[in-house]
Amino acid sequence: MDMTIRPRRLRGNELLRKMVRETRVDASSLIYPIFIKEGSDIKEEIPTMPGQYRYSVDRMGEKLQSLLDAGVKSVMFFGIPDQKDEVGSGAYAENGIIQKALRQAKRDFPGMYLITDVCMCEYTSHGHCGILAKSPQETVDNDRTLELLAKTAVSHARAGADMVAPSDMMDGRVAAIRAALDEEGFLNVPIMSYAVKYASAFYGPFRDAAGSAPAFGDRRSYQMDYHNSREGIKEALLDVEEGADIIMVKPAMSYLDMVTKIKEVTDVPIASYSVSGEYAMIKAGAQLGYIDEEKIICETAISAFRAGCDIYLTYFAEEIAKYIREGRIG
Ligand code: PBG
Repeated sequence: MDMTIRPRRLRGNELLRKMVRETRVDASSLIYPIFIKEGSDIKEEIPTMPGQYRYSVDRMGEKLQSLLDAGVKSVMFFGIPDQKDEVGSGAYAENGIIQKALRQAKRDFPGMYLITDVCMCEYTSHGHCGILAKSPQETVDNDRTLELLAKTAVSHARAGADMVAPSDMMDGRVAAIRAALDEEGFLNVPIMSYAVKYASAFYGPFRDAAGSAPAFGDRRSYQMDYHNSREGIKEALLDVEEGADIIMVKPAMSYLDMVTKIKEVTDVPIASYSVSGEYAMIKAGAQLGYIDEEKIICETAISAFRAGCDIYLTYFAEEIAKYIREGRIG
């Protein structure tokens, strides 16, 4: 008997493919991380992240406007202060770089959603994410750092942050920040916790961008070992218990299994952060002509959403939003 094999997958035109598509993206799920630097009239390219810049507060509006024009309405601020000290006081100063940026962005761009990275590493002279213990030397003092992180989060909320995102990885910081925010009346400011943050070489270009490489040692005592996944689930669940509203997995590309796993065990939204090293690899490969930049951007973004993330942080946010508008992705 003559057998004709029917195709297993739906065959048809682009309209049919789009009709049955399982993963769709929307610009409202994108967050753009932006670096704000002390000073004026600054827009300087970050050497390890071509196409990304450090902006002074008076010039950040250029980027915020082009993001808005493309359809990206959420940004995450990283600060690059003038001065650093042992206790990272620039992080929670009334007139700190992020506080100034927030006040201005709130005034000039009331339609934007402003998120802040809450961490000490850009503000400490030693570059660690917390303050150092008196003894043993060269370890971070978890509990004393909590107070400063809470202070930082409150000062961000006061300056206009809509959401805070602690990335320091100290234990108990979500609870400490939640309590401090509530006490000051910021009950509606959510916490997006970098709960599942791996000690990763993919952060290399960011540390150049923000000048936050640790002066000695590394972050392995507080960031996660990338051999582990159950530990990540534990971290995520503990943070939800402490009051995290959104759980972030970071980096993105090599950690999408964690997005899927954490989505299965929690009911809070999950964010995936495509970090500086992922950006740098795509840019470098594209500049060398080895890969097609747009196609790779689309494929990596879609794979994060396919893994289950609800929110995607990426330095390519503006590009992705444009591709969505032009119907080339999503
Ligand atoms: C601060 C922080 C880092 C990143 C986000 N927040 C650096 C680090 O932990 O070393 C990395 C972001 C990126 O690489 O794009 N703790």
